[in-house]
Amino acid sequence: MRVSSTRLIGRERELSELEAALGDAAEGHPSLAFLAGESGVGKSRLLGELEHRTRERGWSVLSGDCVELGEGELPYAPIVAALRPLVRAGDPRLETLPGTERLALSRLLPGLGDAAQPNTAQDEATAQAQLFEALLALLDALGRAAPVLLAIEDLHWADRSTRAFVAFLSRALCSERVLVVFTYRPDELHRRHPLRPLLADVEREARSRRVEIAALSRDELAQQLADILGAAPEAGLAERLWTRGGGNPLFTEELLAGGLDGRGAPPATLRDALMVRVERLGESAQELLRLLAAGQRLDHVLLAEAARLDAADLRAALREAVAGHIVVVDDDGAYAFRHALLREVVEDDLLPGEHADLHRRLAGALERRVEAEGARAGAHLTASVAHHHQAAGDRPAALTASLRAADASDKVHAHGEALALLERALELWPLVRNAAKLAGCRHSDVLARAAQAADLNGDNTRAEGLLEAALRDPLLEGDPHRVALLLERLARVQRRLGKTDDSLATLERGLALLPTHEAGAERARLLSSKAKVRMLSGRYRDGEQVAREALQAARVSGDRVAESQSLNALGVCLAELGALDDGIAALERATAIAREDERPGDLANAYTNLADVLHLHGRGRDALAVALEGLVQPGISRSSADWLSTSIAEMAFDLGDWALADAHLPVHERRRTGHALLNVALRRAELALARGEDAVARAALDSARHVEAGGEPQLHGPLSALVAELARRSGDLPAARAAVEEALDRIEFCTEDVMRLARVAAAGIVVEADAAQRARDLGDHPAAAAAMDRAAALLERVEAAAEGDRPVESATLIGARAEV
Ligand SMILES: Nc1ncnc2c1ncn2[C@@H]1O[C@H](COP(=O)(O)OP(=O)(O)OP(=O)(O)O)[C@@H](O)[C@H]1O
Ligand SMILES: [Mg+2]
Repeated sequence: MRVSSTRLIGRERELSELEAALGDAAEGHPSLAFLAGESGVGKSRLLGELEHRTRERGWSVLSGDCVELGEGELPYAPIVAALRPLVRAGDPRLETLPGTERLALSRLLPGLGDAAQPNTAQDEATAQAQLFEALLALLDALGRAAPVLLAIEDLHWADRSTRAFVAFLSRALCSERVLVVFTYRPDELHRRHPLRPLLADVEREARSRRVEIAALSRDELAQQLADILGAAPEAGLAERLWTRGGGNPLFTEELLAGGLDGRGAPPATLRDALMVRVERLGESAQELLRLLAAGQRLDHVLLAEAARLDAADLRAALREAVAGHIVVVDDDGAYAFRHALLREVVEDDLLPGEHADLHRRLAGALERRVEAEGARAGAHLTASVAHHHQAAGDRPAALTASLRAADASDKVHAHGEALALLERALELWPLVRNAAKLAGCRHSDVLARAAQAADLNGDNTRAEGLLEAALRDPLLEGDPHRVALLLERLARVQRRLGKTDDSLATLERGLALLPTHEAGAERARLLSSKAKVRMLSGRYRDGEQVAREALQAARVSGDRVAESQSLNALGVCLAELGALDDGIAALERATAIAREDERPGDLANAYTNLADVLHLHGRGRDALAVALEGLVQPGISRSSADWLSTSIAEMAFDLGDWALADAHLPVHERRRTGHALLNVALRRAELALARGEDAVARAALDSARHVEAGGEPQLHGPLSALVAELARRSGDLPAARAAVEEALDRIEFCTEDVMRLARVAAAGIVVEADAAQRARDLGDHPAAAAAMDRAAALLERVEAAAEGDRPVESATLIGARAEV
């Protein structure tokens, strides 16, 4: 099945040029137009549209195709085809031609009668001249009634006689009301093709124009797809077809027919058609194409190195491939296939052994370039070396090259690429003898590096899997310090994924490996991580204690990273336990260390927490200022910036500045996972609820439904309050009540987070107020009283939370009292 677009896409410029030429013809200025373009690009479609418009005006259209016949040429095939309908219809204008002309034409068109008369011409040349004059006279006669469009398709297959007629027309046309349009494929014209000299002459004539038909643009391809599919194509599909088919509408159709996802193999007919173009080239050029199919994009030097051709042969072969419209040179002077489909068919045509050999040669040539460039060799170049070794089946070389390329990628912060390269190295590892010796590191080191790359790339799940695999390496058994550090990293990733309990267990596992009396950096790191988990879990007392232990170990071992991190956790815990000034001081110290040591991640964390603490203590404006300052710190990562922006949205919302909140809410959900995703969803839902956009709020919460918020009251507190409020608004009071109770239990029994407790309890009061109102409306007084009792109990909890000088909880209390 192949489906075409119902309407003509693009081609406005070409059509208007041709219609102008047609207009000129109508005024007695005949001309020739040559539509040139590769197969499938849309020459016939364009010409068809022109024919249609010509007929619409009531003008005449005569059309004929040249046919590919090989040896036995059929003279004048397209002209006969164009004129036969006239004869068959007994067009009266044929009758008006003088006898000699009718006679000459009858040689071509037997139906014209008088064919029995002897041919008076002395020789073939004279006969042909008479025929041409007769044809011209006929066009003239036809044009007198209405302008004529004579369309001859696929001139590259024209027989000798037709070619002679084209040459004749270009000279002889004078005032006939005719436009002659030809189509042809320039890529069919090999070096000794007979059309070449003819076109060279004819296209130079003033009466001729050449109209280059290029592939559709990216945008036009999308339009074509939209028309065929009856709906806007998803971006990936248009992009894929663009890459493979280069905008050639036929290729687009064929690839689509091969599979609606645009990944299918091209149909055999198309492959054959493309392969024919390749096979027309000389052997050297074909060899070059095979190399290019393996190399994809190669510059002259690489081609020269990898091809077994001397300089002159190489140049000739390249020129032939370019002239054959198969290869193009880009702006950087590199050679590549005109479109991916051509490359695909050449590659698919390779024999298995050939394949490996080509890649080996390319790997060798690229290696030499890497050596020559030394430290300057870019990530892309080193990655290419790895790729070609792999494709050549040389696993040891591919392993070392992949690791080298991963280094180069890391250097330019291309973490996604580094991850892919390290994963390739990991796949090769078990297949290579003495891999560790060859790589110069342990298997677990590569796993840990890959985890790091995944982590930096924002893929926590992958990082977790890689770290777990690293920890299974039996070679690590005698190295508890290394294992402890890996466990600390694993715990961090688990925490980010919302697995609070796993994270804590992982840290305990690490700590158990280290002697308690040992105050090494590993211990300090694990302890500061543990302090952070406790802090995030709302266990401030325990958090404070662990943070002090961590701080001690960090100072003794001189580990500034652990020092800054433990001060950070300590600061939040102290502030939450009521010692606000001490807390702020600790956080400021954490900030200072991170800044001095230029550790943007720790710096961003310290800013975030300082802002949070200020916010939770009712100093909203100060909090906002701190967060905004944090956002512009140098080197801040995307994920840190994301989290800070979300905090800013939260603070702005609480300050009543919804526009600012909106402006800072990160928009794109892609790649955000775990708590980062949930955090954004919460703020978005909160804003939407305030605006009365319940559906938006529900969608926002749904987007993060799979994220486990359990361990952290800063997340599950607001989440429960929002879920309860949504349920209340939709009238589902039992569900709202359940959300409140469940959250209160969790916060109250497992944490010291009074602020979240107050907030959830206040949300519960609103639910109970609704319940009481509803019961009263129904005259159910006992139920109303029960609801009011529950509200009073919740109010007590808010009151308890607001004890001591806690402005935020007190504000919540005032609101809650008003509700009751
Ligand atoms: N501008 C266009 N808009 C929509 N569809 C197009 C357009 N151009 C071409 N197509 C479609 O692409 C396919 C190939 O077009 P067409 O047959 O005109 O190519 P061609 O250049 O004449 O190729 P060949 O040299 O093989 O004859 C057809 O199905 C046609 O309908
Ligand atoms: Mg065509």
